[in-house]
Amino acid sequence: MVDLIGKLQDEARQGEAIAPKAGDTRSYARKFYIESYGCQMNFADSEIIASILQESGYGATRNAEEADLVFLNTCSIREKAEQTVRKRLTEFKSLKKSNPGMLIGMLGCMAERLKTTLLEEEKLVDMVVGPDAYRTLPVLINQADSGQKGINVLLSREETYADISPVRLNSNGVTAFVSIMRGCNNMCAFCVVPFTRGRERSRDAFSVVAECRDLWDKGYKEVTLLGQNVDSYYWHYPETGTQVTFANLLEMVAQVHPDLRVRFSTSHPKDITDEVLHVMAKHENICKYIHLPVQSGSTRILQLMNRTYTREWYLAKVKRIMEVMPDCGISSDIITGFCTETEEDHKDTLDLMKQSGYDFSYMFKYSERPGTLAAKRYEDDVPEEVKRSRLEEIVSLQNRLSLESNKRDLGKTFKVLIEGESKRSSQDWMGRTSHSKVVVFPKENKSLKPGDYVMVKVNDCTQGTLLGQTI
Ligand code: SAH
Ligand code: SF4
Ligand code: F3S
Repeated sequence: MVDLIGKLQDEARQGEAIAPKAGDTRSYARKFYIESYGCQMNFADSEIIASILQESGYGATRNAEEADLVFLNTCSIREKAEQTVRKRLTEFKSLKKSNPGMLIGMLGCMAERLKTTLLEEEKLVDMVVGPDAYRTLPVLINQADSGQKGINVLLSREETYADISPVRLNSNGVTAFVSIMRGCNNMCAFCVVPFTRGRERSRDAFSVVAECRDLWDKGYKEVTLLGQNVDSYYWHYPETGTQVTFANLLEMVAQVHPDLRVRFSTSHPKDITDEVLHVMAKHENICKYIHLPVQSGSTRILQLMNRTYTREWYLAKVKRIMEVMPDCGISSDIITGFCTETEEDHKDTLDLMKQSGYDFSYMFKYSERPGTLAAKRYEDDVPEEVKRSRLEEIVSLQNRLSLESNKRDLGKTFKVLIEGESKRSSQDWMGRTSHSKVVVFPKENKSLKPGDYVMVKVNDCTQGTLLGQTI
């Protein structure tokens, strides 16, 4: 194992040319503005898009009013996500009126799902570009400039944008996302992602490590390795026969520097291995936190959802994580009101949440997505008001669990990475513990700055935040 990592790191060093470049000082004739919706992967993609556009001579702006190109990087995961984007689009109508040369592009999952329909339905839109077609953006912009609508929604089996150095947008200079794989081969019955993002493919391990090393060299202190299902990461070098699993990759990134914190998201419960848990336990800088979405606590619903595990299997996995790392934080995603869900299924979900003791959850009402297995096979038969009241119960239980979890941290001291000033007060710093809890503490007169590690003793808490004092 150690030999393999040494070998791969040596090879990765040779790949450094592909790492992000230093500050860009060129001036640009045309400016682009980009807004991202949906998951962290979309935000990471926007940084790749920014790099492609800069290479073609377009400069980034944070002000849509001065932009010649406006892009919305969209999400399709729930109907509401699409509605939000459509609403936002109408807000650009007056902008386009005052700047008729301005082009509007829809990127990402909604572009992929709706394809030409989007051009027909939204007259404002000049370009529709899917997640695997960003390299063709400069050509599509030229096409749209000449009055022809530009569309490319081809999905790829290979594209990982491995050679593109992301331009870090809205960065705090401390934490960064690094995409390690794209697409998803799981067919969860409710989920649109396999259709919008295509087949799963992993990114060259050398390029991942090189990007993380470059981030460290630029002063970043934390990287989050991103993928829809990071545990099924797999890279194979045919020339040498070297194989890299997610556990290997995690270790390689952890070895970039002991002070570089490493996080990852998302783990599918069926794929997270003991090997990953042991690598996490072995390296202090791999954060003791796992986002392990359960979706439902009922085995019957999990089967309908095609999640491939049972309630008992999931709970055994949580137990195993706690055995290997007793201080590990766990969070989840929960969907309520999936097809045929009964009151008993709902109670199973509440019970599983309690047994897992989640620190945090993202909680959603089921939203039927056209083309998915569930849309084809099952009726969306849980009434809206039942979904709403179940969601309320789930949210209030999670609030209680989060508060209980934070109360257990009272009196404890944590190593906190400072991310920036607290949003509430310029007198306070905001940072995170290894198990991903937000900590706010007074600056006092110490000469600390974002990116510093500091020991903080927790003396108070709310449901979402630990409050403390440096020691
Ligand atoms: N790859 C991740 C999840 C990506 S989508 C995983 O497998 O865990 C993020 C979350 O959105 C999902 O975990 C799920 O809880 C939610 N979600 C996906 N499709 C949904 C739908 N049709 N309705 C409501 N929530 C949905
Ligand atoms: Fe969707 Fe399931 Fe893939 Fe996650 S694992 S992206 S929920 S299909
Ligand atoms: Fe949304 Fe696509 Fe991410 S549907 S959640 S932006 S992969």
